[in-house]
Amino acid sequence: MKQLLALVIVLVGLASPAFAQKKPSPKAPVKKVAAETAASILRGKPIYTQYCQSCHHADGGGGAATLKPPLSNTSHLMTSRSKVILRMLMHLRRQNINGGDLTDQQLADVLTYLRNSFGNKGLAVPASEVPQIRKVLFLKSTHYEHSAADTMGGWR
Ligand code: HEC
Repeated sequence: MKQLLALVIVLVGLASPAFAQKKPSPKAPVKKVAAETAASILRGKPIYTQYCQSCHHADGGGGAATLKPPLSNTSHLMTSRSKVILRMLMHLRRQNINGGDLTDQQLADVLTYLRNSFGNKGLAVPASEVPQIRKVLFLKSTHYEHSAADTMGGWR
């Protein structure tokens, strides 16, 4: 009797809508990535305004007239994600930029914002890639600090 009951339960289970549900459509992860990128861009914009705009202007412009490179349509930002993180960490450190202690997430967000603004269109920069690149540079933060890189002659 117990076995019969178990069989009924299994059959009911198989017929239930949960089991009959189709596999998630392959579009679902794409949508998720797009939503995450959009959220990152939104978070990145105020970070740009606060920490970068004074030099790079509201429109990401610049050029020879102001001695700042334009951030529009620039290959600087559109290289591989690890390269762009590396260049950014070096840039912040070199300039000893006020508020340079950006968290991994803030750094990723501002780069994702820039890679999708001023005529650029690119993949999001994931915060999860930042720590390993900080490690490569011997940086605990983006602030200037004496580190192994300096004592070894460094890369500045
Ligand atoms: C004090 C002025 C100043 C501030 C603030 C500043 N930058 Fe820059 N930025 C420069 C100058 C000057 C250069 C060109 C020389 C260089 O690369 O250091 C540059 C270059 C760049 C480049 C291209 C160069 C490369 O190596 O990829 C990017 C991208 C960039 N900045 C992004 C940012 C972002 C993002 C912020 C804010 C978190 C920021 N900058 C804040 C002055 C500034």
